[in-house]
Amino acid sequence: MVKIGIVGVGTVGEAVIKNLEKNKELIKARAGKEIKVIKGVVRNLNKKRLVNIPLTTDYKDVTRDPEIDIVVELMGGVEEAFEVVKDALNHNKAVVTANKALLAYHRFELEELAKAPFEYEASVAGGIPIIKALRDGLSANQIKEIKGIINGTCNYILTEMKKGRNYEDVLKEAQQLGYAEADPTFDVGGFDAAHKLLILASIAYNIDAKPEDILIEGIENINLTDIEFAKEFGYEIKLLGIAKKIASQVELRVHPTLIKSSQMIAKVEGVMNAISVIGDVAKETMYYGPGAGGDATASAVISDIIEIARGNINPMLGYKIPLEIEKLTLKPIDEIESKYYLRIAVNDEIGVLEKIASILAKNNISIESFLQKPRNGFVKLLFATHKCKEKEIKKAINQIQKLNFVIKQINYIRIED
Ligand code: NAP
Ligand code: HSE
Repeated sequence: MVKIGIVGVGTVGEAVIKNLEKNKELIKARAGKEIKVIKGVVRNLNKKRLVNIPLTTDYKDVTRDPEIDIVVELMGGVEEAFEVVKDALNHNKAVVTANKALLAYHRFELEELAKAPFEYEASVAGGIPIIKALRDGLSANQIKEIKGIINGTCNYILTEMKKGRNYEDVLKEAQQLGYAEADPTFDVGGFDAAHKLLILASIAYNIDAKPEDILIEGIENINLTDIEFAKEFGYEIKLLGIAKKIASQVELRVHPTLIKSSQMIAKVEGVMNAISVIGDVAKETMYYGPGAGGDATASAVISDIIEIARGNINPMLGYKIPLEIEKLTLKPIDEIESKYYLRIAVNDEIGVLEKIASILAKNNISIESFLQKPRNGFVKLLFATHKCKEKEIKKAINQIQKLNFVIKQINYIRIED
């Protein structure tokens, strides 16, 4: 029998316990052993729960219990969870976690510490087995690009906003459905997607970057005008996580993105996630499934438990010696290139277009298309640019924003064709 201690019996923890019970015989057959949760750790012992297991508030009752074989960390957060997981590893427990925030900051330290199996399938894209796909299934490939919708809450919000619904209402609904993080600004601010992207990038490229090192923008500034514009021009707006290897550099970025409606990833709606991986041998493979929610996440957590129960020991990040012969480095944010959509609200005056076009040209930015929409008392100018560098567009936007006929904050969204 494999005995489990779960630290965190919330949305995911309860779903893990429930599904281990529901599919008990099948899981036993697949794992080759019976799997039993013998203890859970929570903050509040008086809270009503859907499952009935012995509970404690002291994580050491689990991490130091000689009976427990696997510690499953489902409490969330970074530093406290790090202490819990370190304590478990120091007491020779195998560890399973769904905690992408923890891994975004401490994955390389944990890899050093982990002498027993350490699995984290649920940390990226909920029910999609993307870690196993990237680490094991695609291990023969040099990874050229990873691009995906990796936050279910944001995709749910963007999908519902397209139906005309209000941002705040939909966010509240995503929280009630158990999709959002305890602090939902992690979702809408793009940080949760960034945590996941960093995990994928370590497996693909051995890149040890932190969230602070990469470009992260959320969906808070997307409004109905942007969504209408996207529709009119055959685009969808998606929060994407993108990792691209270009020569010896890797660019990592998370931001709302305009993608052609005809692309497969553009059709991914609601809480669903999708990740495209381009390898040099397999070429493009794509993974689709529910990205958040108790059951979807429990499916991934339990698969890790089964993997460990079977006795399989994988190198945590998928390699035993450094991945690349030439060391890859992180591309500086300023040097990242993209196409942009700009929305600029201006007073209807002579010379407006000329001045904006001149600033764009001086910053090396070429206009691909342009549209003008008169509104009540002002004009909305919509530009699509050719590819330019992050530092060029930021400088141009700053300069245009200062022109006295510009009447609102300039909005921009990157375009991926
Ligand atoms: P949740 O519903 O907020 O549950 C967290 C659980 O951890 C609760 O039982 C809480 O206890 C317990 N806990 C928190 N801090 C604790 C502490 N200091 N000491 C003891 N217990 C503590 O969170 P969740 O949605 O299940 O998410 C858990 C983890 O899975 C997070 O890392 C999250 O990012 C990750 N994840 C979630 C999803 C999802 O769709 N929800 C998907 C993938 C990954 P109380 O119940 O007493 O408050
Ligand atoms: N809050 C996360 C999301 C949970 O919405 O994608 C799954 O990691």
